[in-house]
Amino acid sequence: MDGRHSATARAHSNIALIKYWGKRDDTLNIPAVGSISITLDALATDTHVEFRPNLGARQTDEFWLNGALTQSPRVLGLLDLVRERAGTTQGAVVTSSNDFLTGAGLASSASGFAALALAASTAAGLALNARELSILARRGSGSAARSIFGGYVEMHAGSRDDGADAYAEPILSPDHWPLSVVVAITAAGPKAISSTHGMAGSRATSPFFPAWVDTSEQNLAEMRAAIAGHDLAQLGELTEYSCLKLHALMLTSRPALIYWNAGTIAAMGTVRELRAQGVAVYFTIDAGPQVKALCAPADAALVAHALAATPGVLQTRMSALGRGAHLVAA
Ligand code: PMV
Repeated sequence: MDGRHSATARAHSNIALIKYWGKRDDTLNIPAVGSISITLDALATDTHVEFRPNLGARQTDEFWLNGALTQSPRVLGLLDLVRERAGTTQGAVVTSSNDFLTGAGLASSASGFAALALAASTAAGLALNARELSILARRGSGSAARSIFGGYVEMHAGSRDDGADAYAEPILSPDHWPLSVVVAITAAGPKAISSTHGMAGSRATSPFFPAWVDTSEQNLAEMRAAIAGHDLAQLGELTEYSCLKLHALMLTSRPALIYWNAGTIAAMGTVRELRAQGVAVYFTIDAGPQVKALCAPADAALVAHALAATPGVLQTRMSALGRGAHLVAA
C-alpha cells in the first residue's frame, strides 16, 4: 500500500426485532443466537479513515469520536484486522461522528463499526463484498454485522468455529414494506454496563440462558414468516415477546442487568394503551432505557405525540427504514 489512502462511509443504526444476546466465541465475536433487525434511516454514523504512510503501525492510530480524541481498543482491533488483510502496517486516523446520542442504547456501535469496516477496508485498498464486510463489522460489534444492509436483515449465528458463516443478510428491502420507528429517549447519559459485559454475565449466571438459546430458532422462523407476509400484528407481537424475553434474561443475571428507568416503563404503558385504542404499535428496548415504538408510517405522528406527552420521555425521534452502509464523498 503506497501513498495516502482515505475513504468515508455512512452507516445507519439498527434495532433488533428478534434480539441477539450472548456470544459463542468471545475472541471472534460470534453470536450464540441469530437475530433479525431493521435498519433505521434517522440514526447515522459518518466515518472517515485515512491511512498515512508516515504513521507506522497502530501506536500512532488516532480515533476521533464526535470531535474528541478517544481511546478504543475495539476500533484499533478492527484496524489491525484490516491492516493484516491488506498487508500494511500504516497507522490510521479515524474521524467519526454520530448524529444521535452515543452509547445510550441507540446502537451507536452498530452504525459505528459498520461504517468503520467499510471506510477502513476501502481506504486500505481492499474491495470486500457485503458478506465479508458483515463478518468484519461483526468483529467490532455483533449488531454492526446487520448495519451493513438496509431494510429487514437477518444475522446468522452460524456453526463454524472460525465464524465464516456468522454474517448478516438482507431479507426484505425497505421499499417493499415501509415501517416507522419512534424512539422515545428517557435518559441522555451513556449506559451503565456495556453489552459485552452484560452478555458474558448472562451466559455465565442466568438460569434462563440455555432456554434463550434453545428457543431462538423458533422465534427467528416466526419472524421471517411475519416479514414475508407483511403482517404487522405478528411482527409486533414477536418483537415485544423477544424484547421482554431478553430483559427477563438480563433481570435474572447476577448481578442483575436493569436497563429500564421510570420513563421506560411509562413509555411501554403508552404503547400498550395506544394498542388498546386500536393503533397497531409495538415496543422494543435494547441494553439501555430508550423505548423504540414500531408502527405503520401513517400512525407515526400520533405515536410520537403520545410518547412525547409521557412522563419521563425527554425527547422523541422518528425514523423510517434506512439503507445499508455506503461510501460517501468526504
Ligand atoms: O452489538 P452489541 O454487542 O452492542 O449487542 C447488541 C445487543 C442488543 O442491542 C441488546 C440486541 C441486538 O440484537 O441488537
